[in-house]
Amino acid sequence: MTSRSRPLQDRVAIVTGASRGIGRAVALRLDRLGAQLALIQRTRADETAQQLAQPPVVVQCDLSRAEDGEAAVGQIAKDLGKIDVCICNAGTIHREPALEVEVREFRRVIELNVVSTFAVARAAARHMPAGGAIVLIGSVLSFQGGLQVPAYAASKAAVANLARALANEWASRGIRVNAIAPGYIDNEQTAPLRADAERRRQIDERIPAGRWGTNEDVADAVAWLVCSESGYVNGHVLAVDGGWLGR
Ligand SMILES: NC(=O)c1ccc[n+]([C@@H]2O[C@H](COP(=O)([O-])OP(=O)(O)OC[C@H]3O[C@@H](n4cnc5c(N)ncnc54)[C@H](OP(=O)(O)O)[C@@H]3O)[C@@H](O)[C@H]2O)c1
Repeated sequence: MTSRSRPLQDRVAIVTGASRGIGRAVALRLDRLGAQLALIQRTRADETAQQLAQPPVVVQCDLSRAEDGEAAVGQIAKDLGKIDVCICNAGTIHREPALEVEVREFRRVIELNVVSTFAVARAAARHMPAGGAIVLIGSVLSFQGGLQVPAYAASKAAVANLARALANEWASRGIRVNAIAPGYIDNEQTAPLRADAERRRQIDERIPAGRWGTNEDVADAVAWLVCSESGYVNGHVLAVDGGWLGR
């Protein structure tokens, strides 16, 4: 039985990359909303698992091999019987000027951020009943080129269009696919930006909200996108950026 405070009761929710940062905040939020979590992780993610009310299923998997991600989702579906929600969050970034980036680094970013995201989302859709929801994590660089992160910018643009493409195909099965485009989030991934005083000042000055985002800001948006209140929202890329893109 679902209730207003636990709308995801009896729902199975996958989150990839929940060892820290945005993924952990999303896992904690979905757990609070009543979902049974399944985490696909390179590491055991003990710290996240310990904070969840319901013990999660944890599948250890390096998502830089997309086929392994597909297999991990299959394992979860077998163990838990179905998948209602899938959050494709795991991602990586490589900061280097385009003239210097090695092709293998470029490929590594695309493989995890795009190919694995596709493989995990598709494997989840195969086990998802009508009413299911998939959320891909893009970036404001789904819309902008950024500075010295060419593979990341290319990958996140692909993620935005992947959400639209999958939404088009799976709407008739009652599955919604949306993406979130976080702005500058104050966490480990962006620590190098804050360590560079000049870069930090430029970013601080450009955010209309006057602050960096938090992992929880993103989790709030994910929670809305997987619940019935957003039932007519499909193929959308939602910026959670303090107004960055509107500027
Ligand atoms: N932080 C921001 O400002 C920002 C802005 C826009 C978009 N995003 C996006 O939001 C998502 C989460 O970012 P975050 O800031 O929370 O980053 P993060 O702190 O670097 O966390 C990334 C997560 O992905 C996992 N991961 C990385 N490589 C993996 C692999 N090969 N296989 C399995 N898992 C892997 C990491 O697990 P391990 O513990 O195993 O490394 C970690 O749990 C990413 O897609 C990122 O691009 C972040």
